[in-house]
Amino acid sequence: MSIKFLRQKLVLFITGAFLVSLLFACQGTPIVESPTPTATPITQDTIATNQFPPVAYPDRELSASPAQLPKLPYAYNALEKAIDAETMKLHHDRHHATYVENLNEALQKHSELKNRSVEAMLGDLNSIPEDIRETVRNNGGGHLNHTIFWQIMSPNGGGQPTGEIAQQINQTFGSFDAFKKQFNEAGGDRFGSGWVWLVRNAQNQLQIVTTPNQDNPITDGLYPIMGNDVWEHAYYLRYQNRRAEYLDNWWNVVNWSEINRRMQVKSQQS
Ligand SMILES: [Fe+2]
Repeated sequence: MSIKFLRQKLVLFITGAFLVSLLFACQGTPIVESPTPTATPITQDTIATNQFPPVAYPDRELSASPAQLPKLPYAYNALEKAIDAETMKLHHDRHHATYVENLNEALQKHSELKNRSVEAMLGDLNSIPEDIRETVRNNGGGHLNHTIFWQIMSPNGGGQPTGEIAQQINQTFGSFDAFKKQFNEAGGDRFGSGWVWLVRNAQNQLQIVTTPNQDNPITDGLYPIMGNDVWEHAYYLRYQNRRAEYLDNWWNVVNWSEINRRMQVKSQQS
């Protein structure tokens, strides 16, 4: 084999290798595609799960088109075991009525919200136009909180809890007395104005929480089963600065049958 023949072979080999490497280089870095994520199909079940269960009433959410002051389900003096008639009158006819008026006034500026319930707005505050968001938060919250509050009190209330709520309280807190103590302490520790609540959390467990001002637990994804108003307007005429005494006496008017109904509404949704 001549040297000339070998040189030709070598040139051919080098040229071939160059062309092959050039071909690969032109293809660029291969892209590994992620598998397409599988979206969860939206079904009627998904929609039902994502909806807020009725929070204001057994069968319906709280209308905001327009918002209306509900009637008290008893006389002003019916809850004297815990709250005097003058406080009830001012609380319902003035304070609650003002939240309703302010909410209606704010919503007049945004007709696109007219079919949304108070619960739907409070559950998704970021979707509310910024110019009325705080007004809706405070006054929609005030309307919803007080609508619940009037219903969970009764002249025939008080005493030991009954039914499912009694079992759940014992299971979660050890006893009704232990629960009452924790609830009252939380209400007493809430600085300034606000509410103390028994809620169901996302894990379906009972929990005591407090909220500032007129915030409702649904804004944090919690379902309010019962709540006590610890604003001074709720107790100041009779109790002055003695919030702890008001919190203690309030148990004399707690409407356990209504609270049991609220437990069941949430259980059905879980
Ligand atoms: Fe209030």
